Amino acid sequence: MITTIFDRKGHERVGGLFPPADTPHATAELIPPDLKRKVAPRIPNVPEPEVVRHYMHLSKLNYGIDDGIYPLGSCTMKYNPKLNEDLARLPRFAVAHPLADTSHVQGSLQLLYEMERILAHIAGLAAATLQPAAGAHGELTGMFLIRRYFEDRGDSNRKYILLPDSAHGTNPASATIAGFTVREIKSGPDGMVDLAALDSVLDDTVAGIMLTVPNTLGIFEERILEITDHVHRAGGLCYFDGANLNAYIGRARPGDMGADVFHFNLHKTLSTPHGGGGPGSGPVAVAEALVPFLPVPRVVHRDGSYQFDWDYPRSIGSMHSFYGNFGVALKAYAYLLQLGDAGMRAVSENAVLNANYLQTLLKRVYPLPYDRLCKHEFVLSGKGVGNGVTTLDIAKRLLDYGFHPPTIYFPLIVHEALMIEPTETEGKETLDQFAAAMEQIAREAKENPELLHNAPVNIPVRRLDQTRAVRQPILAYPFTD
Ligand SMILES: Cc1ncc(COP(=O)(O)O)c(C=O)c1O
Repeated sequence: MITTIFDRKGHERVGGLFPPADTPHATAELIPPDLKRKVAPRIPNVPEPEVVRHYMHLSKLNYGIDDGIYPLGSCTMKYNPKLNEDLARLPRFAVAHPLADTSHVQGSLQLLYEMERILAHIAGLAAATLQPAAGAHGELTGMFLIRRYFEDRGDSNRKYILLPDSAHGTNPASATIAGFTVREIKSGPDGMVDLAALDSVLDDTVAGIMLTVPNTLGIFEERILEITDHVHRAGGLCYFDGANLNAYIGRARPGDMGADVFHFNLHKTLSTPHGGGGPGSGPVAVAEALVPFLPVPRVVHRDGSYQFDWDYPRSIGSMHSFYGNFGVALKAYAYLLQLGDAGMRAVSENAVLNANYLQTLLKRVYPLPYDRLCKHEFVLSGKGVGNGVTTLDIAKRLLDYGFHPPTIYFPLIVHEALMIEPTETEGKETLDQFAAAMEQIAREAKENPELLHNAPVNIPVRRLDQTRAVRQPILAYPFTD
């Protein structure tokens, strides 16, 4: 049971010792009467050590990537070097004002300039913008770029964006917000885009396709060159959602596969924890034909100095105040310099190796609907474990074993989905321990399903009403006296 500090009643002890005020400013007489409290604050009298212990205890009930594996599929919750956090806090970066004269922040501008070029290089595309603040924001930026491209050509007929049913959930939302109508393409039994289904909808009303690469099943589209070729022949553009880049960074480039627009999730792939509650960054790289439409201002290197340039009349405008989330770009820049080409290849090698290792262990006990070599993640089904046990039960029981559960009930094309991404930073021992817990849960499902229906039992909170928690949050302590 979690208690609040307000529940600690009855001590009537002093929480802190302060010397009597000896400055005139601190006297109560200076406060105008109408601003004075009518009722004394309801603050519990709890001794300082108890306050400290209370909050220390609460902090230990939390679970994060520094506690253990966090195998949330589609989220890449991996360990990121603390060194990069230190670098982002260097005062000359951290306190640089966005309105500072550019002559005073040449180092920061150089970093932005170089980072755009490094990202364009990794993507195999012509140029990049660091403005978008998250993956979905990058998608929206990319969709605006595609819209502007066709407007610029006077082609107002192209109103459809094609989306495989294995796409990430933000993709259709971004396309719709940008003013397109989404057309879904069914995946084939192999979990990949069905080329015949694609061809049947390709015509001069299609603005483009949005592909999550690898898709949300963790499967790489083996016919990617044919897909992009068919879309291009029909006059459309190809958008690649690159949030899963850790599956192939340093090994393959979206531009070489036919991508015209590509977004990164720096806060998944390159040294900012995803879901860390802080800002993210979703840079977008584009092919040559889309460069004139990139957001302004752009950082340029002219006459020996770095400057902001607003003079791009065909630009879609600004997508973020100033120049995006600088600290996130800084951490990614530092990480990329540390990794180098060989390091990037090691990232994708380990991400894919870990996912396939875990998939091989777990498919012995859980159904794997799309049974093939995966990339950085894979999707099991909790259906069929037996005795009415659901995916939610499995996820809750994992909490009892001290593991954060995987993503559940997504992607929608797998019933009772358990979407697992071990990431490149976990070692074999951790993967074995996680697999052992999953195997134990599968055994419990057969022998004692009630245990699973009632899980979790070993953690401070049991099953929460998540809908009510969102719709009716209790944000203040409910005093009753
Ligand atoms: C494949 C994919 N695309 C897009 C996104 C959206 O990114 P963000 O949460 O930064 O908006 C995610 C998020 O994890 C993702 O996994």
